[in-house]
Amino acid sequence: MFVRNQWYVASWDHEIDRTPLARTICGEPVMLYRKFDRTVVALQDACPHRLLPLSMGIKEGDNVRCRYHGLLIDSEGRAIEMPVRSERPHKSICAKAYPIVERHRFVWIWIGDASLADPDRVPDFWPCSHPGWTFDGDYFHLHCDYRLVIDNLMDLSHETYTHQGSIGQREILESPIETRAENDSVTVSRWMAGVDAPPFWRNALGQEGDVDRWQICHFLPPSSVLIDVGVAPVAAGATLEKHDQGVRGFVIDAMTPENDTSTHYFWGMARNFDVLDVGFTARFKAQQASVFREDVAVLEAQQRSIARNPNLKLKAFGIDSGGVRARHVIERMIRAQQPSAANEAPDPH
Ligand code: FES
Ligand SMILES: [Fe+2]
Repeated sequence: MFVRNQWYVASWDHEIDRTPLARTICGEPVMLYRKFDRTVVALQDACPHRLLPLSMGIKEGDNVRCRYHGLLIDSEGRAIEMPVRSERPHKSICAKAYPIVERHRFVWIWIGDASLADPDRVPDFWPCSHPGWTFDGDYFHLHCDYRLVIDNLMDLSHETYTHQGSIGQREILESPIETRAENDSVTVSRWMAGVDAPPFWRNALGQEGDVDRWQICHFLPPSSVLIDVGVAPVAAGATLEKHDQGVRGFVIDAMTPENDTSTHYFWGMARNFDVLDVGFTARFKAQQASVFREDVAVLEAQQRSIARNPNLKLKAFGIDSGGVRARHVIERMIRAQQPSAANEAPDPH
């Protein structure tokens, strides 16, 4: 069961071209392609005739012809030519078309009720498209529930052990966290005042000396986590509310459910320093991929263990407060989309 009336990342902008891409999103098989005017089309990936995936079809201009009996479907999902040309297509012969918005380097899809799809509600991934910032990343297919990835990203204490060979640092466990939930967003902040900058951040800042360092994990519904990270010289007076004084980045994570136990993971890093250094961007992306592969190994093993132990429940400690609250938001949204008991027909008995 997924939150349906929300925007999800369907793909990176560069993944979609004229040839259809097949991708299952929230359990629904979808195919995506670009029209000649560059806008993105998303249709249910099943021919309305005998359900052959339309993504196997043959493109004809902006339309797609089914590879089985040749039904021609336009970019709105309507049948416009029958297998036997003398027959006229009935308007009931159609593939569902999904609302799409392209923003912040991603293609966003609305899986639920199309009449509710408001482009203003696309999650605000501003660092991915803001002047003065640069952004790049990649995609992983994960064999685990998307909520396990949210739990992982809302609790950076795991860095110490999961990433002990790469970015793990004991100091992270020593700084207290603060968890806040407001409306539908959840924030976990860790502020490290007057600390020695780790080598990566010292190099980014380009100077020695003690710094204020922050890690602020933002959960944005339905399934994204943006982690605001950086350092500023102590004298700059950065605060939790305003910290643009030093060098700053956002770890970008969008987890789109494929099915109950598989996830499309779109990740990257946006930063406001060395923005023109494409070599840095490429090196950082490779490093981030190798760190995230350490998470993938843990998350997929965790998912397998959950399946093998159906009588055991996940427990929440203090470090899990961000993930727990994010799950509450998701559960609330799922409940809100179910017909309420009051609207259901009374039981005649
Ligand atoms: S299955 Fe597509 S036209 Fe028959
Ligand atoms: Fe991690």
